[in-house]
Amino acid sequence: MTDQPPASYSGPQRVLSGVQSSGALHLGNYLGALVKFTRLQHEIDTFIFVADLHAITVWQDPAQLANQTREIAAAYLAAGLDPKIATIFPQSAVPAHAELGWIFQCVARLGWLDRMTQFKEKSGKHKERSSVGLYTYPVLQAADILLYKGTQVPVGDDQKQHLELTRDIAAKFNHDFDAPGFFPLPEGLTEGPGARIMSLRDGSAKMSKSDPSDNSRINLTDDADAIAQKIRKAKTDPEPLPETLEDLKLRPEADNLVGIYGALAGLTKADVLAEFGGKGFGTFKPALADLAVAKLSPVSDAMRRYMADPAEIDAILAAGADKARAVAAPTLDEVKNIVGFWR
Ligand code: AMP
Ligand code: TRP
Repeated sequence: MTDQPPASYSGPQRVLSGVQSSGALHLGNYLGALVKFTRLQHEIDTFIFVADLHAITVWQDPAQLANQTREIAAAYLAAGLDPKIATIFPQSAVPAHAELGWIFQCVARLGWLDRMTQFKEKSGKHKERSSVGLYTYPVLQAADILLYKGTQVPVGDDQKQHLELTRDIAAKFNHDFDAPGFFPLPEGLTEGPGARIMSLRDGSAKMSKSDPSDNSRINLTDDADAIAQKIRKAKTDPEPLPETLEDLKLRPEADNLVGIYGALAGLTKADVLAEFGGKGFGTFKPALADLAVAKLSPVSDAMRRYMADPAEIDAILAAGADKARAVAAPTLDEVKNIVGFWR
């Protein structure tokens, strides 16, 4: 008998995900990511971090960054992540992310990164002025996941390409270093009703932190009046809501609002149309505003309560970092051994 690892990964299942500490969270982050984290923690061992290393791929004010990290942690806790069940930590507190990230930079191919659409979007017309980190961003993301041998990665739809790259890196590492089954090929949990929430001002653009119009998004810190007003002002057409999903598909703004209603209420779009099909936005928007306020106010209230006690957040993050370092260390040790580093 040799002690060769099996060809396919046979280790435990683990959920791994994170959100960058680069500004206020919005409804898309909440429905596309946070709600899923909270649900999964009861099913699988769950590690959720604040991606502050990723945040600095674009400029962050050093006087604000630590507080932004606390704010994301407060949002996790407010959304229902329980530090007694899930491991919650800041990425920069575990140096192994950056170490494994370097090794993966030597595994990933330039051609793979050249295809990444998020870099193209974020670098815009001034690619040559972007940080190198913005370009290699998805390689660090692969390290985040594989350092913990994450098998399930709950994220919004926009992260699909980064997860494919993670699988490519895992497969190439396992192959090149003759370590079959060492890293799992993680699966993205990108489905679900909130996977792609669109701007309230433009049904063809993703709801995003970087949209210059604050009316395009509902922030987790918005109060009830702001939420209601943004929904009232949301772009729509003059027609009543359609009766069928086929007709809904032809109307991106209506589709988005129906999707948001469904995601918040735990209903399918078909359920929402069964209730509101044929009714005008004069009826639907107030119902959506009431629902959004009812679901989001407790979250923003809880966020404010956590933010009023930064010492408690810091204690949770420090304890999470201890647990994360303990899980990361043996993986990084094995990787160093596999790569052949002097030890
Ligand atoms: P980011 O703020 O870019 O770090 O994103 C954090 C998480 O929110 C990731 O899982 C994203 O895929 C998700 N996300 C961001 N924007 C949206 C959106 N408009 N709809 C659904 N999920 C989103
Ligand atoms: N790239 C992700 C985003 O923009 C954030 C992120 C960094 C992440 N590392 C990760 C998500 C690892 C999941 C797993 O949303």
